[in-house]
Amino acid sequence: DKGDFEHFMLKEIHEQPELIRSLTQFYFHGEGLESLKKAGSFKPSKFHMTACGTAYYAGLLIRDFLETYNKIPCAPELASEFRYRNPLLIEGESGLFISQSGETADTLAAQELCTESKLKTLSIVNVDGSTLFRNCDNNLLIRAGIEIGVASTKAFTQQVLTGRLLSLALSDELSEESKRVKLTSKFSLLAEKIDHLISRSKEIKDIAESVYNHKGFFYTGRGIYYPVALEGALKLKEIAYVHAEGYAAGELKHGPIAMIDEDMVNVALVGPELFEKTVSNIQEIKARKGVILTIGPKDHEELEELSDYYFGIDFDGLEELSPIYINIVNQLLAYYIAKYKGTDIDKPRNLAKSVTVE
Ligand code: F6R
Repeated sequence: DKGDFEHFMLKEIHEQPELIRSLTQFYFHGEGLESLKKAGSFKPSKFHMTACGTAYYAGLLIRDFLETYNKIPCAPELASEFRYRNPLLIEGESGLFISQSGETADTLAAQELCTESKLKTLSIVNVDGSTLFRNCDNNLLIRAGIEIGVASTKAFTQQVLTGRLLSLALSDELSEESKRVKLTSKFSLLAEKIDHLISRSKEIKDIAESVYNHKGFFYTGRGIYYPVALEGALKLKEIAYVHAEGYAAGELKHGPIAMIDEDMVNVALVGPELFEKTVSNIQEIKARKGVILTIGPKDHEELEELSDYYFGIDFDGLEELSPIYINIVNQLLAYYIAKYKGTDIDKPRNLAKSVTVE
C-alpha cells in the first residue's frame, strides 16, 4: 500500500528516518545486541566484500568503516567478477556479502566460493530466511521492511548503517551501556536531520525541474562521497533513463572532462572531508562551462557562488555518516528528474527487483 504517496519509491525514501531509529533500538538496546556482538567477536585477517549494484556501493562505504575504524583490510569486488576470477582466499579471512533480497545469483555464487575455500561468511541482508541468509555462517539483518520500488533506496541506508554497527562491534565499542546510549543519540540526530531534509523536498524538486532536460550528468565525489557519486548516477540511470556517470572527482581530468560543455551537469558532492580538493575540481568543470549542481555544506558562500544550483546541508556531528545524508538528496533528485521525464518510476523498463539469473 502506497498510502498517500504517488510511488513506492517516494514512500520508501520517507520511511528512512523511522527505520534508522528502529535499527538502532534493535541493535543497541534490543534483541539484536547479542547477534551484533557475535558478529564482532570474529576478527578476520581480511574481509572480501562482494555485492552487486546499489548493495556494492553500500559495501564500498562499509569497506571504509572497516579499514578506518578496525584496521582490517577489506577488498571490495563486484560479485559477478569475483566469482570467475580465482580470487586468492586464505583461511582466517572472511567473506562479507551485502544484499537486499539475499537472492542475487552472483552474490550467492561468491558466497559459495568463499565457503568452499573455508572462509567464514557474514551477510548484511534484508530478507530474513533468504538463500544468502541460510548459506552464511552469520547474518546481520538490516531491517528495512519490504522494499517494493525497483530502485533501491532505504536498503542502501540501512546497509551502510548496519556496516557501521559491525565496525563498532569489531572494535568492542558496544559492551558498555553508556557508550550505546551515546551512539543512539548520534543515530537519532541523523534520523532527525533526514526528517528535516525530506521536508525540504520542494527545493530538490525545483532543482530537478531546471536540470532534467540536460543531456548528461557527472556525479563527482572524493573519499567517502565517491561511493555516493556512483550510487547517485545509478539511481538516475535506472529510473530516469538519462546518461549519468559516477566519478571520483580527482579522476575527471584523466579523460571525461573532455565531455564537459554547457549541456552537461556536474552533481558535485561535497562533504566535510576533502573539502578544498573537491572545490578545486568544481572550478575545473566550471572553467569548461559545465552546469554545477552542488550538494554541500550549508552557508558556504564561496561554493554557492561557484555553483549554478546549490543544496546546503548541516553536517554537524555526522561526519562519517554524511554520505547517507547526501545520498538521500540524490535519491530525491533522481526521483523528481524521473517524474519530470514521465517514466515508470516504481517499475523502470528492463529491470527486475531481484536478479536471480546471471
Ligand atoms: C539498484 C538496485 C540494484 C540492486 C542489485 C543487488 O537500485 O536495486 O542495483 O542493488 O541488483 O540486489 P540485492 O541487494 O538484492 O542483492
